[in-house]
Amino acid sequence: MSNSSLTPAQKQSMVAAARAAQRMAYAPYSRYQVGVTVLDENGQMHAGCNVENAAYPQGVCAEAGALSAMVLAGGHKVQAVVVVGTGGAWVTPCGGCRQKLREFCDAETPIFTANQENWGPTYTLEQLLPQSFGPEHLPSA
Ligand code: THU
Repeated sequence: MSNSSLTPAQKQSMVAAARAAQRMAYAPYSRYQVGVTVLDENGQMHAGCNVENAAYPQGVCAEAGALSAMVLAGGHKVQAVVVVGTGGAWVTPCGGCRQKLREFCDAETPIFTANQENWGPTYTLEQLLPQSFGPEHLPSA
């Protein structure tokens, strides 16, 4: 599914769910709350929020939570991603999360950014993670 085949209603539902997820984020250390939704091949949305930890490196990003929820529900193809952060420096997935998304996205999968009020820039996975390594590189895939 390309950006254009995502209906405006789906896009709105995704950002609403990501904003709701962002409000649930556990980020007492960075105070930077993130919410994410991914839309799977079955048309189901899955949300995640960041969950930090007193042992800082053990914190997990919102993208990881959303992908976990998708896999648990049987989804394996991401049609679109919405990432909601705070402020006008638009959030983009961190490097590790770009690779996590790479597992389930196509090069052209849209990654929409937003905050609680507005949409930010849109990227494709390929723009965020060019020349990437993925499942098709492995002979067993
Ligand atoms: N974070 C995410 O959850 N996703 C992103 O796309 C960017 C960063 C989290 C990690 C950490 O809990 C906080 O934001 C500040 O880095």
